[in-house]
Amino acid sequence: MVKVDEQLEAKPQNIVPRGRQGTRETPYSLQVASELLETYGSPLYVYEGETLRQTIQQIAQSIPYRHKQFHFASVTNGNISLLQIFREAGWGLHANTPGDAYLALKAGFAPQKIVYSGSNLRPAEMAQLLEWGVPTFNFDSISQLQQFCDVYQNQNLSPNLTRLGLRLNLPAVTGESRIGVRPAEFPAAVKIAQAAGLQIRGLHFYRGTGTNATKAFTQVINEVMATAKLLPDWEYLDFGGGFGYPYDRDGAAFDWEMFGQELTQQLAQLGREIQLVIEPGRAAIAGCGSLLAKIISVKWQESKQILGVDTTVANISVPAVHGGYREIFCWQETGETYRTDVCGNTTYSRDYLGKNCQLPALQIGDIIAILDVGAYGYAMSYHFLHRPLPAEVLLEGGRDRLIRQREDYKVLVDNQIFT
Ligand SMILES: Cc1ncc(COP(=O)(O)O)c(C=O)c1O
Repeated sequence: MVKVDEQLEAKPQNIVPRGRQGTRETPYSLQVASELLETYGSPLYVYEGETLRQTIQQIAQSIPYRHKQFHFASVTNGNISLLQIFREAGWGLHANTPGDAYLALKAGFAPQKIVYSGSNLRPAEMAQLLEWGVPTFNFDSISQLQQFCDVYQNQNLSPNLTRLGLRLNLPAVTGESRIGVRPAEFPAAVKIAQAAGLQIRGLHFYRGTGTNATKAFTQVINEVMATAKLLPDWEYLDFGGGFGYPYDRDGAAFDWEMFGQELTQQLAQLGREIQLVIEPGRAAIAGCGSLLAKIISVKWQESKQILGVDTTVANISVPAVHGGYREIFCWQETGETYRTDVCGNTTYSRDYLGKNCQLPALQIGDIIAILDVGAYGYAMSYHFLHRPLPAEVLLEGGRDRLIRQREDYKVLVDNQIFT
C-alpha cells in the first residue's frame, strides 16, 4: 500500500461526535425542522437540494482535464429525486449492482450514461444489463470477463456499443483486495475479449472508500497510468470513487482542487487524450443529508445525559456498519454542555446514534439533526429491529417535497407467506 505523508493521513473514521453550535452553519432553521416533522412525522431524512447542486458543481469544476465524465455512485444513495439532480447536472451514474442500473434508468439516465463496475454477476444479470443498454463494464476477474463474453456473443450486439475495462488489483497501489485483476492477467484478458470481437479499453482504479488523504490518490496516478499502458487498446481511465468527506471538521479533508490539478497535469504527460471517468459517491452527497429526530426520553447518570430519540441505528446504520458517528446538531442557544449519549428506540446494545457528545441539556420534544448522512444513510438502513424506515424530503428554493414515503408496519409482513 502506498505510504502517505503523515500529516495528510486521514484521521480514523470513528470520530467523536459533538454538539454543533457554532461549528457549522445551521442546516435549516428550527422552525423549518419543526414544520417538517409536523407535516411528515419523525424521524425524517432531509436533503438540501442547493447544497447538493453546489457540491456537484464544485467537484465537477475542480478537474480541468477536458475529456472527463462524472458518474455518481448510487451505492451511497438511491433516491430517484436525488439521482435526477445528478442527471440534470450532466453526470452519468456508476452502478455497483444491477439494482443501481435499474434505479438509474428509472431516474431517466440514458443507458449510455451508466458505467457498471461490480462483482460476481450471474450470466442472466449480465444479459439483463446488456438488454437495458448499459455499455461500459469494468470486470473484477478473468472468469467474470469470460462469462460476460459468452453472454455477449449470444446477444448479437454491435461491438461499438460495448466498452470493456478491468478493475485493477495491484497490492502496492490498491492495497490487499479481493477485487480486481492483476497486471499479469492482462494478456489473458485481452485474448478473451478479442475472441469475442471486443477490446479491453479501460482500466478502473478504486482507492477504497472514505479516503481523505489527497496524496493517497495523487501519489499513485503515475503508476496507475503506467499499468494502463499495458493494455494495447487502452482509451479510458476510471479513477474511482473513494474520495473522502470531512465528517470531522477538524480532521483532514479531501482536496479536490489539488487532486484535479495533479491528475490533469499527469494525464497531459501522456501525449494523447484518453477519457477520464470519475465516480464520486459519499464526497458528492454526504453533506446534503440530515436525519431529524425528536427527544423522547431524558435521564441523567451523574453528570452524563442519556437522551432517548425516536430513531434507531437501523434507520441510518452509519455508526454500526460504515464508519463513525456523525455530528449531532441541536438548535438550543449554547450554554453549558454535558457529556451525552444519544440512544435509539430499541434495546439493542449497539443502538447509539452518538456517544460522548457534548450537548446542552435537552428536553422531551426537542429536535436534533444528525448531520452528513446523505451517503450510506438511508441506503444502508434496514429492518433489523423491525422499525419501518423513515420518509425522505427534499428542501429546495424554500419549499419541501416528499421524495419517499414513510414505511408502515405492513412492510414487515409484505413478503411473508403465512396462514
Ligand atoms: C467501484 C466503486 N466506485 C465508487 C464507489 C463509491 O464510493 P465512495 O462513496 O467511496 O466514493 C464505490 C463504493 O463502493 C465503488 O465500489
